[in-house]
Amino acid sequence: MPTLLHLDSSADLTSSRSRAITATFAEAWRGRGDDYTVVYRDLHMRPLPHLADPALHWAPELRPPGATPAREADELQRQLLDELLCADVLLIGAPLYNYSLPSTLKAWIDYIHVPGVTGSFAGSPRPLEGRPAVIVTARGAVYDPGTPSQDWDHEVPALRIVLGSALGMDVTVVTTSVTLADFVPALAELAERSASELAAAHREAARLGAALG
Ligand SMILES: Cc1cc2nc3c(=O)[nH]c(=O)nc-3n(C[C@H](O)[C@H](O)[C@H](O)COP(=O)(O)O)c2cc1C
Repeated sequence: MPTLLHLDSSADLTSSRSRAITATFAEAWRGRGDDYTVVYRDLHMRPLPHLADPALHWAPELRPPGATPAREADELQRQLLDELLCADVLLIGAPLYNYSLPSTLKAWIDYIHVPGVTGSFAGSPRPLEGRPAVIVTARGAVYDPGTPSQDWDHEVPALRIVLGSALGMDVTVVTTSVTLADFVPALAELAERSASELAAAHREAARLGAALG
């Protein structure tokens, strides 16, 4: 049964672009057949507790001597890891918040990047190697090469490092920028670009949802 793990993290429940674009992906995925399953987590509506214990960063056999993470935290981590490890494709809605990840998404990352389980430790295999991960990022402003803010997006690079470099996943990024063009007067002249990036992101999400996995 092909399974998509679909995460959203936008705090906007009415006009979020990342939510709309991940929904387009998930619709294309479901459209491939009745057995194409979606496991959905809304990290904003059902936020995870912050990582309770640093020992949870390590596989159980690698934890420091005497480490005793709380049972509920251990069980929650096991559930999150199972969801990820059972997924054929990972899809993340990732709005840019303060040049970084929404804290709700960061909490999820803290649970699932586990050397010795999802990450390699002393040469151990990486179970997610080569598995597709799609990051749908929505950014209010402009981050074009050559602009003063070209290096200010610390979200996509961090997700690429964790999911791609550390876990070995095959990362694709779908970007929609200038999302605040209708709201911030200084960006108003970029409204057309904003709309055309949004349309392109939906097309790309539909294509990927019909093809990956
Ligand atoms: C708490 C917060 C912080 C934000 N910080 C930034 C930022 O650092 N840079 C930026 O370009 N836009 C920023 N924005 C704007 C969002 O990136 C933009 O509205 C985006 O479209 C949000 O994704 P969504 O449409 O999926 O909700 C911020 C929005 C919020 C709510």
